[in-house]
Amino acid sequence: MPDARRDQADKVPVAVFISGSGTNLAALIYASRLPDCAYRIVLVASNNPAAGGLHLASAEGIATFALPHRGLARAEHDSAMEAAVLASGARFIALAGYMRILGADLVRRWAGRLVNIHPSLLPRYPGLDTHARAIAAGDSHGGCSVHLVTAELDAGPLLGQIAVAITPGDTPATLAARVLFAEHQLYARCLNALVADQ
Ligand code: GRF
Repeated sequence: MPDARRDQADKVPVAVFISGSGTNLAALIYASRLPDCAYRIVLVASNNPAAGGLHLASAEGIATFALPHRGLARAEHDSAMEAAVLASGARFIALAGYMRILGADLVRRWAGRLVNIHPSLLPRYPGLDTHARAIAAGDSHGGCSVHLVTAELDAGPLLGQIAVAITPGDTPATLAARVLFAEHQLYARCLNALVADQ
């Protein structure tokens, strides 16, 4: 999709799911404003109404949806999130710090159109506490991975990775902060390549 002058309206609509501060969301939004980016963010949805990224989305003129998951069955919460996505017209879903496992039905329905970013060099360290685990193992590098979401946690096909050196004295917090820079470079590029390929 090479036309650098293409209007935003011609870009592929994407929904982003978040739970927290939303720095990856910010990176995805601002990358989408570049003329040669193939996607645009049409919805930011969260299981946490207090997620900071929702405020950013509103300020940037992007529709938001928030529904706490507490008290709802997983399938019920997934369905409400999916209904918001369908209403937005989004054709892809990007998980950006969405701290909730999606049910198998939703994952199957969005197969190939549902992506996640994970703060490790998968297949190393699926799940939580990735930076602490990399440091404790004596790894020379941590990093981040963007992958398609499948039924198995953090195990879908890889779309891209960036390795980040672990420096002497790194703590999980300092490594996480540096890996975030890499995440912000990686995610928009992988998402762009995925939607441009459809
Ligand atoms: C990122 O490290 C992401 O890889 C992980 O959760 C964190 C979200 O950070 N899944 P942010 O909300 O994008 O700042």
